[in-house]
Amino acid sequence: MEKKKNISMAVIRRLPKYHRYLNELVKNDVDRISSKELSEKIGFTASQIRQDLNCFGDFGQQGYGYNVKELCKEIDIILGLTKEYNTIIIGAGNIGQAIANYINFEKLGFSLKGIFDINPKLLGLKIHDIEIQDIDNVDDFLKNNNVNIAIICVPRKSAQKVAEIIIKNNVKGIWNFAPVDLVTPEDVIVENVHLSDSLLTLSCLLKDKI
Ligand code: NAI
Repeated sequence: MEKKKNISMAVIRRLPKYHRYLNELVKNDVDRISSKELSEKIGFTASQIRQDLNCFGDFGQQGYGYNVKELCKEIDIILGLTKEYNTIIIGAGNIGQAIANYINFEKLGFSLKGIFDINPKLLGLKIHDIEIQDIDNVDDFLKNNNVNIAIICVPRKSAQKVAEIIIKNNVKGIWNFAPVDLVTPEDVIVENVHLSDSLLTLSCLLKDKI
């Protein structure tokens, strides 16, 4: 199947939503779906959907709809979900513990291998059988384990320092919860998370209704 390369960032940002909805359809034994039906479920326009899905293959057939399973498989490949990722969490406070406790990431192929903190009171505590270790061990841990993603959940002032230890040990992916723009080499991919962005979108849409 002929595929186009260079999927735009805007399409990439929409893919997780396609992934979520299409997997739900597979679970419900839906074999085919039209762009119009998908549009009603997912909230993107039918033409947006046709345009997006056209980026990575010829799945839709006029009057026939999309093959849901094939589309799911393709989206898995593009989202990198046919690979397994080893992750660690740095900072086992509120956010770090919440992420460690969220087992759905494992189901997607993100395997948590270690949790690190600086607070002596937290060291030795276990979350899902993983012991929280002293941050001083992280260097050795990274040398001896193939970690692909570090999840940074430390206070802003410690985030860059922590990132540098990770980068020195060849970790190429950072999921950064600290509210700071990390300085990283080009080959390191940083995905920043800001829950407040979503909250501010809500307040923007809500402001005239209350
Ligand atoms: P917290 O204070 O509960 O946890 C931070 C943890 O990091 C503590 O356990 C602390 O001992 C540990 N820590 C501090 N320095 C460290 C170091 N050098 N190495 C290893 N561990 C270290 O804080 P919380 O609420 O979990 O927030 C964590 C980070 O996430 C903060 O930067 C906060 O601003 C940010 N945050 C981000 C949100 C988002 O939407 N992205 C939402 C809420 C918080």
